[in-house]
Amino acid sequence: MSLEVVILAAGKGKRMNSQLPKVLHKVANKPMLFHVIETAFQLSPSAIHIVVGHKSELIEEALKDLPSDISRIVQVSHQKELLGTGDAVASALPKINEESDVLVLYGDNPLTPFDDIQRLTALLEDNPLCVLSAYARDPFGYGRIVRNEDGFLKEIVEEKDASEEIRKIKEINSGIMVTTAKVLKKYLPMIKNDNNQGEYYLTDLAGILVKENKIVDVLQSSNFDLLTGVNSKPQLAFAERTYQSIQANKLLAQGVTLADPNRFDLRGSLKCGQDVFIDINCIFEGNVTLGNNVQIGAGCVIKNCTIDDDSIISPYTIMEDSTICKKNTIGPFARLRPGNVLNDEVHVGNFVEVKKSTLGVGTKSGHLSYLGDAVIGKNVNIGAGKITCNYDGANKFKTVIGDDVFVGSDSQLVAPVEIKNGVTIAAGTTVTKHTQMDENSLILTRAQSVKIDTYVRPTKQK
Ligand code: UD1
Ligand code: CA
Repeated sequence: MSLEVVILAAGKGKRMNSQLPKVLHKVANKPMLFHVIETAFQLSPSAIHIVVGHKSELIEEALKDLPSDISRIVQVSHQKELLGTGDAVASALPKINEESDVLVLYGDNPLTPFDDIQRLTALLEDNPLCVLSAYARDPFGYGRIVRNEDGFLKEIVEEKDASEEIRKIKEINSGIMVTTAKVLKKYLPMIKNDNNQGEYYLTDLAGILVKENKIVDVLQSSNFDLLTGVNSKPQLAFAERTYQSIQANKLLAQGVTLADPNRFDLRGSLKCGQDVFIDINCIFEGNVTLGNNVQIGAGCVIKNCTIDDDSIISPYTIMEDSTICKKNTIGPFARLRPGNVLNDEVHVGNFVEVKKSTLGVGTKSGHLSYLGDAVIGKNVNIGAGKITCNYDGANKFKTVIGDDVFVGSDSQLVAPVEIKNGVTIAAGTTVTKHTQMDENSLILTRAQSVKIDTYVRPTKQK
């Protein structure tokens, strides 16, 4: 039997108080809807139907960013009017194969647990409908699982329609359910909208089947936190922290030392070798790989980088799309823009910006410099305030620096320019492509300093 997944994403998300459709709000910098789609994809369904409505064009645009293996099986269904979750599923039904099983997920459940939905779909063999429930510390806002005297599910009642008695029930409906296309086709039309919200509730399907003498199975999830439906910003923040604590705990279990797992953010994937230390308030984005004995100081933001063994990244360093080889020392306050390769034992110190540059083994740039579009050799020493003038206002040019070059402080290398091996550039020198040089020569621009005897230092006017 093939499985198709329907993900509801048509709602406005009024309680988010935002122009952005709710399911595009992000957890770990990824739209909530994408988290749900990726989890659903792990079940190997034959199709994933996304029901869109409110600002559907924004959602369809966002879906273009899905990886191609996933987008191949994604289909969009339009819900014309937002008449409720029952109507939303009905609008996807024409595209679903009549023989398929159907798993319904909500686009505002970013942490939807894979284990639970896998177990839930397995239950379908016995009964026509299975819903996923959980015990909530505070069930407010959720549909409640109402059971009969024998403990079987009787109906699901929404918060807004619940009596005081029913509101006391702590077992909530996650919204996640599995059934068949045949059941949906037969029973969805029986759902009415005679409730306090005037909506066609998908959840009414449970009560309707029970009245037809069918048994509706309830699978209890052990983790309510993962079933948080995000309707508001506080719930979004809760989902984010819950997600991050799962990431942090996985890394701790692998042996990574996190100074504080509550002050750690991973927005992508992070692979770590042994004895990695990560101080507080770091953000890792995209794909980051850290080798053995790598230390990351407080407040670093690291995106799509590989950092090899024994490298130390000091606090408040920002780096992106760069490869850092072994035994580097970077920062504090360094900025690596995309496209750098830093070979072994490179040092990049505070307030140094590096872009699209290669630094050879043992090269050092300790402070306050800009290295852009540069190929720099081995054991080069770069003084403070050295600038590669790589841009003439229209085009970018390359700077090539040989091995063992010494670049004095406050010097400008006007690209395109090549500095030969062993050259010493004196402080305050401007080098252009016209500058004559041999290997190991000294290059120097020195304007004469003069003494002015008539100078009087200004005093503050009264
Ligand atoms: C829903 C459930 C509730 C459950 C809770 C779990 C119903 C009637 N209630 O309530 O039992 O405890 O989720 O989080 O299903 N949507 C559409 N079209 C619509 C209305 C909603 O696609 O016409 C989508 C929304 O975008 C959202 C999902 O369905 O992704 C759930 O809708 P929402 O309004 O958030 O339902 P809840 O009130 O949270
Ligand atoms: Ca919701």
